[in-house]
Amino acid sequence: MQTLRVELGERAYPIHIGERLLADAGLVAAHLDLPKVAVVTNTTVAPLYLQQLSEALRARGVEVISIVLEDGERYKDWATLNRIYDALLERRCDRRTTLIALGGGVIGDLAGFAAATYMRGIPFIQIPTTLLAQVDSSIGGKTGINHPLGKNMIGAFYQPRLVLADTAVLASLPPRELSAGLAEVIKHGLIRDEGFVAWLEQNVEKLLDCDAEALAHAVRRCCEIKAAVVAEDERETGVRALLNFGHTFGHALESALGYGKWLHGEAVAAGMVMAADLSRRMGYIAQADVDRVVALLKRARLPVAPPDIAPGRMLELMAVDKKTEGGKLRFVLLDRIGAASIRAEVPAGLLQQALAASAG
Ligand SMILES: NC(=O)c1ccc[n+]([C@@H]2O[C@H](COP(=O)([O-])OP(=O)(O)OC[C@H]3O[C@@H](n4cnc5c(N)ncnc54)[C@H](O)[C@@H]3O)[C@@H](O)[C@H]2O)c1
Ligand SMILES: [Zn+2]
Repeated sequence: MQTLRVELGERAYPIHIGERLLADAGLVAAHLDLPKVAVVTNTTVAPLYLQQLSEALRARGVEVISIVLEDGERYKDWATLNRIYDALLERRCDRRTTLIALGGGVIGDLAGFAAATYMRGIPFIQIPTTLLAQVDSSIGGKTGINHPLGKNMIGAFYQPRLVLADTAVLASLPPRELSAGLAEVIKHGLIRDEGFVAWLEQNVEKLLDCDAEALAHAVRRCCEIKAAVVAEDERETGVRALLNFGHTFGHALESALGYGKWLHGEAVAAGMVMAADLSRRMGYIAQADVDRVVALLKRARLPVAPPDIAPGRMLELMAVDKKTEGGKLRFVLLDRIGAASIRAEVPAGLLQQALAASAG
């Protein structure tokens, strides 16, 4: 097992990464105020891992309540959030009950927001079970739900006390979900660490085969990068925005296609190609760099071009993305492979060209 820390002063917390950590209840028990937890999970993850976790905790004398929700992004909503509150109230959970999220990013975001708001905040632990959640969503304290008018529009910053990333659970992920997680893995390399990109170029097939050692390395490196970025800029007033590389385009693609058609990571993959292409048009990187991004994403079995969407429609959708500031679109663009900056001065003409090129 390897342990990192997210350095946030009195809200600092450890991330444990390793195989079969789920059955090691001592790791969780060490962070509980009272021996009582409520595990929030879904109908897909529960039959796979809930029993393993609950039994280990019960064997240590911890009372375990389980809250099993429907599976899917469309359940990241008020109605489902209310089901968590209902269960907590019915089971008389008080402020010292710890909420545990056992699942992917949807469960983590929902349960985290429930923990942030139930009785004005109760202890929270993340046990992420998708690659995307282990490398990205479980770290950093962004929690929330979707609103009919926009994704992730209702939420709170609320840090967990512990993140437990058990890489063994990734073996049951559908291949498409594993690839979608790889998009975020590649993103971490592209914005921050060329050496890691080179490592990915050597090891992407191993990751697709769920090679334990390769997965542990990739998860650890991404957690290190994300933890450092979050420690520097918890509320996203600066460097944390770099983690949105590919996301301005990606979010627009997701909403143009309708949520659920493409996975988030797939839209981000195509979005990163568009952002890399725009970086080249701005003169920051060479065509060879763009080709390198495309080749790696392809090998990770990710889409590298969006379906045909009119540039005008993309512009419209990008303008509603919450990352616009004062009406001006800001882009995370590559300075080179392994470094990125936020740019607000992209000429409309170049953006049009980038959108038209990807649509053609
Ligand atoms: N909070 C953040 O900082 C942050 C960052 C990125 C993404 N997100 C959010 O995360 C969500 C996407 O997360 P995701 O990609 O994990 O999707 P997800 O939570 O929908 O999980 C994907 C699918 O895999 C299933 N699953 C989970 N673990 C499994 C396992 N071990 N074996 C088999 N199946 C398993 C899930 O039930 C689901 O069907 C989005 O809502 C996005 O907004 C949040
Ligand atoms: Zn993302």
